[in-house]
Amino acid sequence: MRLRDKVAIVTGAGAGFGRGIAAILAGEGARVVVADIDEKAGNEAVEILVQEGRQAVFAKADVSKAADVEEMIEAAVGEYGRIDVLVNNAAICRLSPLTDLTEEEWDSHLNINLKAVWLTSKYAIPHMVKQGGGAIVNIASLSGLKARPFMAAYCASKGGVIMLTQEMAVELAAAKIRVNSVSPVFGETPMGQGLLEQAAVQYQLGEAELAKQVVLQGIPLKRGATPEDIGHAVLYLASDEASLVTGINLTVDGGASA
Ligand SMILES: NC(=O)c1ccc[n+]([C@@H]2O[C@H](COP(=O)([O-])OP(=O)(O)OC[C@H]3O[C@@H](n4cnc5c(N)ncnc54)[C@H](O)[C@@H]3O)[C@@H](O)[C@H]2O)c1
Repeated sequence: MRLRDKVAIVTGAGAGFGRGIAAILAGEGARVVVADIDEKAGNEAVEILVQEGRQAVFAKADVSKAADVEEMIEAAVGEYGRIDVLVNNAAICRLSPLTDLTEEEWDSHLNINLKAVWLTSKYAIPHMVKQGGGAIVNIASLSGLKARPFMAAYCASKGGVIMLTQEMAVELAAAKIRVNSVSPVFGETPMGQGLLEQAAVQYQLGEAELAKQVVLQGIPLKRGATPEDIGHAVLYLASDEASLVTGINLTVDGGASA
């Protein structure tokens, strides 16, 4: 029980990697706040955790909106009294050629994927400072390290998350708040499935199944990331075992960046 008595907020925990991260942290004893814009998915994730005997509550929030984030952080502290771990996982990804990309699409990627990491941290940090420390884990992406066509807004936002993580790590070290990022390779979450369908069209591959084979070919270990893979990486960075680890970007990518 590496997170016994700790409280963790996981954004975008209604589905995909976030749901897996919440399950791994809760399985290690954390009381988890499942934060998501999708009420149905978030409540379902909480229901499953509670049925398994874990402690979890749902908090509805659009992480790109300051008022929602402030309310969500206050609700978390109201429910559990503290915040030890913040996992900034919520994000969106749509493929589009640079010249077709709209201003609205650019802004929504940057707001949800990058600005929200700062916003949730902004409201969570004062509670961590009061408690004497904490751990923040930002979910970036291999696409923040390696460029891919038709992913300008996503790549830019994730590159930003990796650098923002480093900035936060050095600024918050004095307050004993560690900040790290995890960069997953492709995973078959709802986002990953959507990406395959869009890639099949944009890269003229015909079918999503063919796009999947092309993606897997680029991964030396020949498989994508599961929610459990990402959950275990987050668990390490959130736990006291990583007490000297801050400012890193942990790739969980089957060797794709090697
Ligand atoms: N799936 C992949 O292939 C892949 C690869 C690398 C990195 N990632 C990253 O992993 C993280 C999780 O991705 P995923 O594949 O599980 O995504 P997903 O789309 O499957 O799930 C994302 C969750 O975030 C929620 N969400 C979206 N916008 C939100 C908002 N504005 N406010 C609050 N919640 C919001 C959704 O409702 C959903 O529950 C993201 O940061 C993503 O960029 C994913």
